Amino acid sequence: MRTASQAIGLFDSGIGGLTVANAILGQLPNESLIYFGDTAHLPYGDKSADTIRYFTKTIGTFLLSKECKIIVIACNTASSVAYDMLVEMAGDSAYVFNVIDPVVEEIIQKGYKKVGVIGTLGTVQSNVYQNKIHHLDSSVEVHQLATPLLVPMIESGFVDGQISHLVIEEYLRAPELQDIETLVLACTHYPLIKPEIEDFYHQRGRQVNVLATNEIVATHIRNFMIVHDLINMEKKGRDTFYVSDYTTSFEKTTKLFYKESVNLVQIPLFK
Ligand code: DGL
Repeated sequence: MRTASQAIGLFDSGIGGLTVANAILGQLPNESLIYFGDTAHLPYGDKSADTIRYFTKTIGTFLLSKECKIIVIACNTASSVAYDMLVEMAGDSAYVFNVIDPVVEEIIQKGYKKVGVIGTLGTVQSNVYQNKIHHLDSSVEVHQLATPLLVPMIESGFVDGQISHLVIEEYLRAPELQDIETLVLACTHYPLIKPEIEDFYHQRGRQVNVLATNEIVATHIRNFMIVHDLINMEKKGRDTFYVSDYTTSFEKTTKLFYKESVNLVQIPLFK
């Protein structure tokens, strides 16, 4: 059962997936969202693939019980190791999206040839971007770099000051990222520091196209929903944000995106 009036479910380890949620609501304002931030297990980036699959299974079961028409794995780390499993779990109950395929599609469609990828250790070690891009076009150069400090930095609220500036500079100056024309923000937290990343290149007079991965994913989902007649015409009820552990950073960031008070619920999913 997948009908237009059902909600869209999303999850991430923390606030990163909110960048995707926000992009979806920007393009599809009548959708109702059910978001799960697995703050008790943050960060996902340094966990094993088996552990991420266990988290995904538990959260996926919860979102399916909420009768979501669509589930978005709003996390690159989980998308890289748990997408196939969740598709199988969901069966005919919900459409499942990852945040990687739409970006790979965009790279191929736009003909980008020198692509940098920054992400968590898990995402980079899985090689998922390189494999998927090369499956479609082996002539694309893919230069990857794990940037593990960025998620804790962003979750701690350091997004536009001296500390974030130094960390971002250190990473973007890495030899791996010198010969690129396009940069993929392969972690859903990173759109929160996109202006700072663009500033880095701007100040050095370098032309690097920093992809707004959250918007690319939202556009992909909207196009799919148009074709499958899944667009909600009238919003009913408020969006709900669940967390596995209450954190002030989650509440602060949710308020940053959603001006009005948010419906934040802590739920002991893993007990
Ligand atoms: N935002 C997630 C991602 O896209 C998870 C980051 C983390 O928890 O390490 O990979």
